[in-house]
Amino acid sequence: MPHGGNLINRINGDEPIDSSRLLIELDTLELNDLLLIATGAYSPLTGFIGKEDYRSILFDMRLSSGLPWSLPITLAINEITAAKIKIGEKVNLAKDGIIYGTMEIQELYLPNKELEAKLVYQTTDIKHPGVKKLMERPNFYVSGPITLINLPKYTTFPSYYLTPIETRETFKKLGWKTVVGFQTRNPIHRAHEYIQKTALEMVDGLFLHPLVGETKADDIPSDIRMESYEILLNNYYPKDRTLLSVFPASMRYAGPREAIFHAIVRKNYGCTHFIVGRDHAGVGNYYGTYDAQKIFQHFSINELGITPLFFEHSFYCKKCENMASAKTCPHDKNDHVILSGTKVRQMLKNGEYPPKEFSRPEVVEVLIKGLKENNAIFEEVSNDE
Ligand code: ADX
Repeated sequence: MPHGGNLINRINGDEPIDSSRLLIELDTLELNDLLLIATGAYSPLTGFIGKEDYRSILFDMRLSSGLPWSLPITLAINEITAAKIKIGEKVNLAKDGIIYGTMEIQELYLPNKELEAKLVYQTTDIKHPGVKKLMERPNFYVSGPITLINLPKYTTFPSYYLTPIETRETFKKLGWKTVVGFQTRNPIHRAHEYIQKTALEMVDGLFLHPLVGETKADDIPSDIRMESYEILLNNYYPKDRTLLSVFPASMRYAGPREAIFHAIVRKNYGCTHFIVGRDHAGVGNYYGTYDAQKIFQHFSINELGITPLFFEHSFYCKKCENMASAKTCPHDKNDHVILSGTKVRQMLKNGEYPPKEFSRPEVVEVLIKGLKENNAIFEEVSNDE
């Protein structure tokens, strides 16, 4: 069952566009959220949240109805636009001159960004990418129900943009009663593969759902990642037990709170289980390795409606000659093949292959090639300037 009982659908391609309305310019994160609200991925949200939900999410990790919800999904506007806002009126939501949707204005309010940073990100340090983004946003929030009237055009990997209705139908067709969702913003390394396949031993299907919205600049771009997922799935996963689709949200790097959010959203896509490993949605050293697992203690499985599957930090052990974790391996750290994300990204950018116990060579090949081409494009652009 979707979160709150019903799958929200706020798409209406027939709604006429009235360009005389006040126009609110969205940023990428907000446009992504608009799409996700409209397709029901954020059920039961029907729009950008109001003041009461905002307070309740910040303090209690719940909507004002009491339903678990851990991240505030807000729309920010500047002072000039705020002065023109009239409660009860419909506004247009646009990006780069294209109108994507409308919103019926219910409230205009001032957020407490310091408090939001402290409660959502557990830090006010603007080096944290989520906090930085929050502080750079305009200072007013507006709320109200939205309608998506114009679906964003996706030119890269369009066939992977499945809505919750579509994934639910696909799971049914495949006969999967239990489905484990996997969130990632990275290429899939052996540790990811290990926890996915361990989960797959217990459920009918694996829903590989990489986040392809905005990520921080040093994360690997999504088009390169997508190619690496395809290669991996084609070579090492059973076709009838895996579904690859994309999650077009932006990354917030809110660690524990984002883990709850990721789980609830995957429930809306039709998952019954959700993987939470080490430092889920974390960045730097802002969160403890298992904080994103501990936070689930605040909620009953019943009210979340999706079962989290927790995994310890996994690695290849040379003595075990196997993938393992501290739960299954008695050997010393020196026997474990462990590389930091930063180190791996550096190696890939230099065209170096991480050990095959860390990452499948087929995957590495795609990543190195993609990054090289990306760099070439990047250099060409900078030379033009
Ligand atoms: S995330 O920001 O999208 O969570 P990432 O792509 O690194 O980052 O992780 C995807 C999922 O795999 C998360 O649930 C994370 O906790 C888990 N994970 C990543 N690396 C490991 C590892 N070595 N051992 C166990 N779990 C891991």
